[in-house]
Order: sequence, then structure tokens, then C-alpha cells
Amino acid sequence: MESSHRFLLVALIVASSIIHLVQAQAGFISLDCGLSPNEQSPYIELETGLQYLSDSSFIQSGKIGKIDASLESKYPRSQITLRYFPDGVRNCYNLSVHQGTNYLIRATSNYGNYDGLNISPRFDLYIGPNFWVTIDLEKHVNGNTWEEIIHIPKSNSLDVCLIKTGTSTPIISTLELRSLPNNTYITESGSLKSILRSYLSEATKVIRYPDDFYDRKWVPYFESEWRQISTTLKVNNTINGFLAPQDVLMTAAVPANASAALSFTKDLEFPKDELYFYFHFSEIQALQANQTREFSILWNGEVIFPTLSPKYLKASTLYSVSPFVCEVGKCLLELKRTQNSTLPPLLTAIEVFTVIDFPQSLTNEDEVIAINNIKDTHKLSRISWQGDPCVPRQFLWDGLSCKEMNVSTPPRITSLNLSSSGIMGTISIEIQNLTHLEKLDLSNNNLTGLVPEFLANMKTLMFIDLRKNNLNGSIPKSLRDREKKGLQLFVDGDNTCLSNSCVPKKRFPMMIVALVASAVLVIIVVLTFICVFKKKKRSVQMEVMPTMDTASKSISEQLIKTKRRRFTYSEVVEMTQNFRKALGEGGFGIVYHGYLKKSDQVAVKVLSQSSSQGYKHFKAEVELLLRVHHINLVNLVGYCDEKDHLALIYEYMPNGDLKDHLSGKQGGSVLEWTTRLRIAIDIALGLEYLHYGCQPPMVHRDVKSTNILLDDQFMAKIADFGLSRSFQLGDESQISTAVAGTPGYLDPEYYRTSRLAEMSDVYSFGIVLLELITNQRVFDQARGKLHIIDWVAFVLNRGDITRIVDPNLHGEYNSHSVWRALDLAMSCANPSSDKRPNMSQVVIDLKECLTTENSMKTEKNDTDTDGSLELSSSFDTKVFPSAR
Ligand SMILES: *[C@@H]1O[C@H](CO)[C@@H](O)[C@H](O)[C@H]1NC(C)=O
Ligand SMILES: *[C@@H]1O[C@H](CO)[C@@H](O)[C@H](O)[C@H]1NC(C)=O
Ligand SMILES: *[C@@H]1O[C@H](CO)[C@@H](O)[C@H](O)[C@H]1NC(C)=O
Ligand SMILES: *[C@@H]1O[C@H](CO)[C@@H](O)[C@H](O)[C@H]1NC(C)=O
Ligand SMILES: *[C@@H]1O[C@H](CO)[C@@H](O)[C@H](O)[C@H]1NC(C)=O
Ligand SMILES: *[C@@H]1O[C@H](CO)[C@@H](O)[C@H](O)[C@H]1NC(C)=O
Ligand SMILES: *[C@@H]1O[C@H](CO)[C@@H](O)[C@H](O)[C@H]1NC(C)=O
Ligand SMILES: *[C@@H]1O[C@H](CO)[C@@H](O)[C@H](O)[C@H]1NC(C)=O
Ligand SMILES: *[C@@H]1O[C@H](CO)[C@@H](O)[C@H](O)[C@H]1NC(C)=O
Ligand SMILES: *[C@@H]1O[C@H](CO)[C@@H](O)[C@H](O)[C@H]1NC(C)=O
Repeated sequence: MESSHRFLLVALIVASSIIHLVQAQAGFISLDCGLSPNEQSPYIELETGLQYLSDSSFIQSGKIGKIDASLESKYPRSQITLRYFPDGVRNCYNLSVHQGTNYLIRATSNYGNYDGLNISPRFDLYIGPNFWVTIDLEKHVNGNTWEEIIHIPKSNSLDVCLIKTGTSTPIISTLELRSLPNNTYITESGSLKSILRSYLSEATKVIRYPDDFYDRKWVPYFESEWRQISTTLKVNNTINGFLAPQDVLMTAAVPANASAALSFTKDLEFPKDELYFYFHFSEIQALQANQTREFSILWNGEVIFPTLSPKYLKASTLYSVSPFVCEVGKCLLELKRTQNSTLPPLLTAIEVFTVIDFPQSLTNEDEVIAINNIKDTHKLSRISWQGDPCVPRQFLWDGLSCKEMNVSTPPRITSLNLSSSGIMGTISIEIQNLTHLEKLDLSNNNLTGLVPEFLANMKTLMFIDLRKNNLNGSIPKSLRDREKKGLQLFVDGDNTCLSNSCVPKKRFPMMIVALVASAVLVIIVVLTFICVFKKKKRSVQMEVMPTMDTASKSISEQLIKTKRRRFTYSEVVEMTQNFRKALGEGGFGIVYHGYLKKSDQVAVKVLSQSSSQGYKHFKAEVELLLRVHHINLVNLVGYCDEKDHLALIYEYMPNGDLKDHLSGKQGGSVLEWTTRLRIAIDIALGLEYLHYGCQPPMVHRDVKSTNILLDDQFMAKIADFGLSRSFQLGDESQISTAVAGTPGYLDPEYYRTSRLAEMSDVYSFGIVLLELITNQRVFDQARGKLHIIDWVAFVLNRGDITRIVDPNLHGEYNSHSVWRALDLAMSCANPSSDKRPNMSQVVIDLKECLTTENSMKTEKNDTDTDGSLELSSSFDTKVFPSAR
């Protein structure tokens, strides 16, 4: 029954009952992209009654296109025109929204061969600085698709950006925002990205506005094992805030075989996504006194909601408050009648989402306003000056530098270089609102007017270049005073002394100051150059991921050296017997079983073509695996890199991954405690090698039980190096932009600071060690304490330590060695990285555990299993990243 905690059943939230369509559209923004402002705008679209506006005042860039005339009749008016973006990498819409309101955001792209090239484009969408989704129109019928997300903006303006990721040109046909009531579709953190929204009916019509008050799009879906039931009566849908449309609620599916379950399977593109379900129900059959309809919901065979009995002609919504994950290609949802029920289960509609986190903070809001005002005053039209000025870093505006502490702190603008930008007029007063500005270069423009006094009051400003302008008047004294305190000021003597207040006498000391200043500058420049040069050298040496063309070269070179093979795609097809047997799902592709030379078994990871991150990770993994070699790291046999076909060929690990073994999925016997200790030692040795044994040192970044593979002797090997990075030991400045890893295993300190260090792997290793000891899931709502560390600490504090150890071991272990391992696991997972041991210490400790275990075993001393031993370290487990 505890599993019902994962759901909330909403039946009695009374929503506003008076519904006016006009009022509803008040919360809507509907942009018809590419509609020329000369045409009638706004207009009412016939099919939907929605009022569409031209997008021209919401974006400054892009060109207008129109789909092929022969296709026009197939699409609604709003999808006939489109905007495409041949220039720049990032192009953004800027929309005015209400901070804190929940919005449904939908972007539709309809290729319609607008350019006559017949090549469907592929690109990314971002919400502000954060990645939303990759759109690959190749994969959709007629190159038409839409993406939806339910998101709460953190400020009153919202950027939706199209990012060019390859050679094709991003396109967009409509951009729609609908405000939702603030009590529906709420997550603890992150935003809900839509995976599907279906009503179960044999109809063919997509239902949206005006039938759906919030303009959600409901796509009909039906399977042959189902039977449709329907009603002509109205269902009361105002009982809860979800307001499912009447047409959705008036039909439902029941299993055709009344005693069977209603099953719903879904092929997921990213099976590791954490899924959130919203089920909509309504009883539409008038039940006799002796009839009941009652059923439970099962996920992969496990009951997740025990009993449900929809009310006659009343809508109810059941939604999950914690996520469900598909396990190795298996994501099966079933509705089963309970014993008491005389009628089969029923399902009306279903919505499936995945949560995506938007960790990156926007640039400080005042500075965004200021820089946009500077852009307006000086009429700057630079293609990169769209979206957030500072983040993500690869889209930093030209001429700016920013300071970013960590993803949760808003970045600040530290330098503004508008040199040679053809700007005119007086220097914008808004510059003073860039309160962290250190450098200002406005040289070589046509600026006029006085040198503004406010520059002297900008405390952080250390460099100003105003040369080659048409400025007049004298330089404010306060600014000259700042010069004495180290400000570097560059002005043209002639320009700045047009007024008669400048006396030659005064200039003399200034020149000395200037001379001194320039001498200082030379020294600084030389020093900086040396530093930069040193850094450069080091960073070149550290580089893991070379650019694409150099990478392919160096890979082939290394291949020759290491005798590992490059395979053609047809060889891959042959060795996997046309991808006959899938072994599982890696981060960015499916892993297949295969044979090399008909006898040697291999595992072949085929990169899914849809994954844009995939290519990067593929390269990273090949690079790393070619470079390192260790018995506890999975061995790369070869790879395939042929146009779009990317595959990695590894040695085959017959015993699968550690997680499956612990959960009993492999069906084999329970892993003994000594085996578990050996596995822990193997992992620790593999990590120790990565951290200290290879040059440059590496962090794995994704240590978790599903990435630990077991060979036929149960020797453990670490796999999946797609996120691995090299790092410099003790280098404080090693900050990577995107924090990566798996929730639950992710070092809270790394998560907080983005500072990459080997200690993050130690943390993840601690979690894996806890899994080995407890056989508990990392996240488990049912046990009360969500995260494994909290649970262990909680049970330990109650002194109930025997409960921690995996009951499947049936006490067959030496408690000294188990407690010592537990102590070690907890110090590895200490929230503070400087309290964690390094991997070499971990190896030593674990080996001692194993020795204890073995010696005790030979003595057959089993008197000490009362679990009364105490742990030496104290646990503080307050901080860990919350589940996504
Ligand atoms: C975006 O819109 C907001 C509000 O409409 C406005 O204040 C801001 O300057 C705009 N930003 C850009 C880059 O146009
Ligand atoms: C939700 O919306 C209502 C009315 O629109 C408002 O009064 C209330 O404060 C909002 N609640 C939150 C948590 O935003
Ligand atoms: C629907 O249910 C609500 C809450 O139970 C009730 O207030 C309302 O009158 C009902 N509407 C209709 C049309 O029956
Ligand atoms: C109906 O389902 C039950 C239970 O799954 C099964 O035993 C029975 O054979 C099915 N009947 C038909 C006709 O398929
Ligand atoms: C339910 O009652 C109806 C008459 O009201 C009867 O015809 C039917 O057989 C009953 N069904 C069951 C399962 O008892
Ligand atoms: C089945 O019905 C009986 C009698 O109505 C009731 O006592 C029992 O609790 C029900 N069982 C379940 C599982 O709902
Ligand atoms: C500003 O940019 C110009 C050219 O883009 C460059 O020559 C100049 O050194 C830059 N100024 C500063 C202070 O970096
Ligand atoms: C300044 O403006 C004049 C004409 O107004 C133009 O010829 C000149 O090129 C401009 N100088 C710069 C640096 O933009
Ligand atoms: C910019 O600075 C001025 C003066 O310091 C201040 O009055 C104004 O409110 C600031 N604007 C913003 C957007 O912070
Ligand atoms: C981010 O950095 C700021 C300033 O250094 C610090 O106060 C804050 O705690 C950091 N936040 C996180 C989540 O690490």
C-alpha cells in the first residue's frame, strides 16, 4: 500500500467553473512564425479559432519562408509560413511572460520543403541558457513535429532559442505559450517535457483548443487488444483543475478480453528517462447494483497503485509525484482488475512526461536590462547579441566577458568591448548599471559628447579605452584621480582637451603617470602572457576531446599503434547478426551481442543517431579507451566510425551489470559477501588507475552500479566512459561548464561548485559500496528515506545496524568486515570532499576488510554477528542533490 505515496489522486480540487473562451485566450501567446508583418496580423485561424500574431516583433533575426504550395492544403494556416535561421548559431525569441506562472510552451516546426532541397533539418531548442530538446525532422512524417514543455519562467522575459548544431538550418513555424493554473502539472524541481499525451479512442482527430481549454494537444491512440466504450452523456470535468476535454472523456479503452489486463507499452527514445504519469479516468458505463469496476496499476509487474474505482461521469486524474524508470528496454504499464471487480479495467487518457532540470541561472536581471538598453541606444545589431548575454558560455555575446561562479549564481558582465562597432551618439548612461564591469573598450567609434563622470564611480572598472572618437570637453578630475589608483585610461589627448580648462602644466604630471602606468601595463602584459602561455601548454596537454577532424586522425593513428581495429558498418551488421540480440541500453545507444570471427563474443554499442550529445561522448570514450589499459576497465576491441554509423566494440561481459546482479534480475545466485568485497576492490583499483595511474589523470564522472560489468569470474570492470574528463590534480581552477552524472550518485559538492576533481568519483563509489552492502535502491520512496545515504544514516542513528545489511546474505558475513566497509562507504560519500579518502586509501582499506573476512572465515568464528559494533566516524548527511 505504501507505493500509493508515489501518486496523488486529484478528484476534488474545484476549479473556476465559468469558462469563457475569450478569457482563456488572454493567457495565450500564439505566434505565426514567418508571417510577414505586412499581412493581416493578428488573424483568427479557422480550425482552432485561435488568434495568431506575426512573430516579427519578437525576434530580430532569421528569414521568412513558405512551405511548398502543393502541401499548403494539408496544414493549418499558422503552419504555412516559417522562419529559418541561416545566420548565427543561436537565434532567440524574446517573450514577455509572468514570472512564476506555469506555462505550456509549444514549438512547431513544419519543413514542407520550403527551400526546395528536400532535406529535413535537425537542431536544438533551448529555454534561455538551458537545453530543452533536439528536433530531428528527418524522423517525423513530412518533416512536421511539435515539442512541448511545461515550465515556470524565473523572470518576466523568456527566451526560446534555436541552435544550429550541424550544417542544417533551424526552422520554426509556430511558437505558442499557454498559461496553466498554478496547481496543475507541478514538479518538485525541473520542468515537465512532454513525451506523449493520448486519449484512448479509435477516433483520428487531434483534440486541442477550443475543445481543450488550455490548448493541450491530445492525440488518439488505440491498440487491437482493446475495446472502445463510449457515452453520449457529458462528463463533469470541472471537478479537478486539469479540465480534460469532453471529447477525451467520453470514450475509454477496456481490454477486449474482459479477464485480461489492459496493457500499455511505450518505446522510449531515451529509456533511462525518469517518467512521470498523469492518468485521466472517468466511468462512462452506468453500473448495475451488482457490478463493480475496480483495478490496480502495475509498472513492470509491480503494483504501483493498488485500487482505483472511477466515479460515474466524473473526471479524476491520478499523477505520479516521483519518477518511474524503464528497466533495460522494458517499460510496461498494466491495469489489472482486482478480485472484487466484475468489470475489466478502464483508461480514458494518459500523459507521460520526463523531468528536465534547468540548472543554469540567467545573467543578473539588471545587467540584462542594462546591456539591452545599451544595444538599443547604440543601435547595435550583432547576430550573437540574442538570448542571455553570458550563458551558456559557448553563446556568449561578442565583445562581452562574464564572471560565472557556479550554475546557481547569476553570471555578471565583466568586460564590454565595442571597439570599431560604428556606434554614435553620447556614451550610454546605462553602462553604469553594469556594476561588475572591469574593462570598457569603446575605441574607434564615432562617439560624441563628454567623457561621463559616472565612469569614475564604477569601483570595479580598471581599464577604459576611449581613443579614436569625437569626444570633447575635459576628462573629469575624479576619473584622473582613479588613474592614480591604478585605473588604466586611454584617451586621445586632442579629443579630450578641446575646452580651455586644460592647461599644459597640468598635463605634465599626467604624462608621468601615464608613463608609469604604461610601464606597469607592459609588465602586466608580459606576466599575463607568461601565465596564459603556461596555462595554454597545460591545457593542450590535458585536452581530452579534440575537435572532430583532428580526433579522427589521432584515433586512426592510435589504432595502428594499439592494434585495435576499425570496423566498417557492414562488419558491425554482420557481427551482431543484424542487431539481433540487445543486451541493454547504454547512455547513448543500445548495446548488442555479437561475435567476432564467429567465436569470440563481443558487446557492440551502437550510438543512436538521434543523440546530439552522443557524438561527443562517443569520441570521448574512444579517445579514453584507446589511451588507457587496465584489467578493471572494460576493454575496447575496436570501433566503427562510418558517416552516421558509430559503434564501439567491447569485450563481452557474460555476467552483465552489477545492478542486475544485486537486484536478482540475472536470476543467478545471490552474490556472497566476499565476492562483493572483491568486486568493490576491482572497482576501486580501476578508479585508482584512472586517478593516479594514467597521464593525464581522469575522472570517470558516471560511476554507478549499472556501469560496473562482471566477467565470467565475477571480476568487475568499469564501463561507459562517455562522460569522463581529464583533470589536473589539485588544480583549483578546473571548472567545467556542465555538471554531468547520474542523480543519486552525483557528488553534491561537484553539483554545487562545478569543480571537477577525482573526489567526485570517490563519492559515487561510496554509493556503489552502499549498494553492495545493503542491496537497497539508491532512490526509494517506499522506505521513507528517499536517498540511500539518508536511509543508512537514519537506521544507524537508531542503532539498528543489522537492518542495513542485505537480508539476502542471511548473516553469512563477518560483521567486522561489513561494518568497516560501511564506515568506508559513508566516509567516501561524505558531503564534504576533503573528508573523503582517496582511491588508494580505499583500496588498502577494502583489502584489509577482505583479509579480515577470510581469516575469520577460516577460524569459523561467527560469534560476533550481534551487530553491536560501533562505527568510528560520525555521519552528516544533510546535503545531497535532490532527485530530478
Ligand atoms: C525582451 O523583452 C523584455 C520585455 O518585453 C524586454 O524588457 C527586453 O529588453 C527584451 N530583450 C531583448 C533582448 O529584446
Ligand atoms: C495561484 O493562483 C492564484 C490565482 O491565480 C493566486 O491567488 C495564488 O497566489 C497562486 N498561488 C501560487 C502558489 O502562486
Ligand atoms: C461538477 O462537479 C462540481 C464539484 O463536484 C459541482 O460543483 C458542479 O456543479 C458539477 N457540474 C455539473 C455540470 O454537474
Ligand atoms: C483472456 O485472458 C485470460 C487471462 O489472461 C486468459 O486466461 C484467456 O485465455 C484469455 N481469453 C482469450 C479468448 O484470449
Ligand atoms: C446482475 O443483475 C442483473 C439483473 O439486475 C442480472 O441479470 C445479472 O445476471 C446479474 N449479474 C451478476 C454477475 O450477478
Ligand atoms: C472485496 O469486497 C468485500 C465485500 O464487499 C470487502 O470486504 C473486501 O474488502 C473487498 N476486497 C478488496 C480487496 O477490496
Ligand atoms: C576589443 O576588441 C578589439 C577587436 O575586436 C581588440 O583589438 C581589442 O584588443 C579589444 N580590447 C580589449 C580591451 O580587449
Ligand atoms: C564616423 O562617421 C563618419 C561620417 O559621419 C564616417 O565617415 C566614419 O567612417 C565614421 N568613423 C567610424 C570609425 O565609424
Ligand atoms: C541603472 O542605474 C540608475 C542609476 O544608478 C538607476 O536609477 C536605475 O534604476 C538603474 N537601472 C536598473 C535597471 O537597475
Ligand atoms: C555558488 O557560489 C556562491 C558564491 O561563491 C556561494 O555563495 C553559493 O553557496 C554557491 N552555490 C552553490 C550551490 O554552490
